[in-house]
Amino acid sequence: MDRKIIVTQDNSKTLLISELNETYHSTNGAYNEAIHVFINAGIQFFPKKENLKIFEMGFGTGLNALLSSNYALNNQLQINYTSIEKYPLDMELVQELNYPQLIDNKEAESLFTLLHSSSWGKENKINPHFTLNKLKEDLASFNLDMNSFDIVFYDAFGPRVQPDLWTIESLRKMYELLVPGGILVTYCAQGQFKRNLKSLGFLVENLPGPPGKREMTRAIKPKP
Ligand SMILES: C[S@@+](CC[C@H](N)C(=O)[O-])C[C@H]1O[C@@H](n2cnc3c(N)ncnc32)[C@H](O)[C@@H]1O
Repeated sequence: MDRKIIVTQDNSKTLLISELNETYHSTNGAYNEAIHVFINAGIQFFPKKENLKIFEMGFGTGLNALLSSNYALNNQLQINYTSIEKYPLDMELVQELNYPQLIDNKEAESLFTLLHSSSWGKENKINPHFTLNKLKEDLASFNLDMNSFDIVFYDAFGPRVQPDLWTIESLRKMYELLVPGGILVTYCAQGQFKRNLKSLGFLVENLPGPPGKREMTRAIKPKP
């Protein structure tokens, strides 16, 4: 499918798949959305933890990985980041994205390149604070250790485009991946999706959404 670069309202770029009328991020601001949903409501949920294991559904443009590694560096945190992606992007397209320029870190450009050029299917030590494990896998068939992640970044295309990724079966995998007390965060606030989370045993929080969206979702796997 054809992907084309568009500029969102905070001047950060994203990708549009015209055939599906679907973007990789909010057109109200890709950068602001990622900071709001995944850094502020995700990583910052654990202010005292010095080691975090994060699982991301959909590596895509690598924006969440870039922001997480930058956060780890700035806050002297260790992040072990695993991300699956069924349709990796071409480097040529990635190089047109302007995410490194939006970050106050002169190493951001090389960091972003490293995140994308690092090997699939093995653990890559990106810097002393960030380890990346990119897996070229389908959510429907991948296997990872259960009870091992503190945070799931659930960044799939929306339920309108990929309804199968928001079903109880797909979400059960996420529940199983998380440690008790772990959280799933996503930009999505659809009613059926939240009912699916609740039926799996998640405690569901409705949080204020990023610019242009009323709500987002954070779901906690309860401790026994
Ligand atoms: C909304 S985009 C977000 C990607 C990324 N987090 C970002 O910030 O660019 C969703 C991503 O999920 C990927 N994807 C779609 N179906 C998938 C599947 N079944 N398994 C794994 N990845 C999938 C897409 O290729 C796309 O990169």
